[in-house]
Amino acid sequence: MLILCIESSCDETAAAVIRDGRKVLSNIVASQVDVHARYGGVVPELASRKHVEAISVVINAALDTAGVDLAEIEGIGVTRGPGLVGALLVGLSTAKAMAWSLDIPLAAVHHMEGHILAPFLEEPPEFPFLALAVSGGHTHLYRVDGIGRYRIIGQTLDDAAGEAYDKVAKLLGLGYPGGALIDKLAGQGAADAIAFPRPMLHRPNFDFSFSGIKTAVLQYIEQVDKPIDQRHMADIAASFQEAMVEVLTRKTLRAVAQEGLERIVVAGGVACNSGLRARFKELAGGQGFQVYFPSPSLCGDNAAMLGVPADYYLDNGRQADISVNAISSWPLDLAGVV
Ligand code: KG4
Ligand code: ZN
Repeated sequence: MLILCIESSCDETAAAVIRDGRKVLSNIVASQVDVHARYGGVVPELASRKHVEAISVVINAALDTAGVDLAEIEGIGVTRGPGLVGALLVGLSTAKAMAWSLDIPLAAVHHMEGHILAPFLEEPPEFPFLALAVSGGHTHLYRVDGIGRYRIIGQTLDDAAGEAYDKVAKLLGLGYPGGALIDKLAGQGAADAIAFPRPMLHRPNFDFSFSGIKTAVLQYIEQVDKPIDQRHMADIAASFQEAMVEVLTRKTLRAVAQEGLERIVVAGGVACNSGLRARFKELAGGQGFQVYFPSPSLCGDNAAMLGVPADYYLDNGRQADISVNAISSWPLDLAGVV
């Protein structure tokens, strides 16, 4: 089945053409980062407006790159939520209009479902597996027994991992979005320079809390009584990254052991993080589990990742009704059935 996928949940307008839920024929992403950077974060109204401007251009680019005519498209997959509701509505309304006018079925997908199934576009893991979904809005551990079969094992009680990265980057004056900038800077610093806290690491559950690390960085910066030079900034970034990586990897490993699983998928924008990728790979060697990371282009927001669940749902006759609405807040374990 040839599916056109559309994603507009936050600040990326994206479209992709996917064959049989596995082969990426095109994957176009138009980022709005420049628009939001000067405000230090995503401005929802501006995001919606930019999606309106970009959506047709991005869809046409996805069809052109794939070398596919609109008439050949057999189904549409779209992000229904969670996300900014005005932003979601741009993609969803476009998808509904296209499905209706072309008389083809529509699959309304959960954004995080796309993220955690992204590895199926490259090196498909076998089910079951544990998924660590780390993005700007999510830090969740899911047990995944199949497409549409997700159980939440743990989640952040406050900030998401990407949010913590972005807030610390702002404190360091690095700009938005800050995750990749801190990651780069961390490579030049000493990870053991400053002992930032590891919140909830020793609690016997699988929940996370990152607002304490962010506050600790703020308090550290406030008590430094001389200007912070580049070297010192790099040490702060590396020490912060070490705290994040340690909490994320150790909790994930405990969860995989408790669930008796052998495979871990790490997905979402923060899965681009070089420290996180290196640590998981290092631990996987010694502890006998396999770890799957999507390529960086499939970790951040994109539409190709929606092709995996969309193809599955359409193949199983689980198409969305044309009246389907966007959902800004939507737990993944309740998704799957539209
Ligand atoms: O999945 P994503 O593109 O969008 C959401 O669904 O939120 O994730 C974006 C988040 C941002 O917070 C960004 O700073 C973070 O992923 N991020 C990173 C890195 N690249 C992106 N965080 C840490 N290290 C990176 N290399
Ligand atoms: Zn995302």
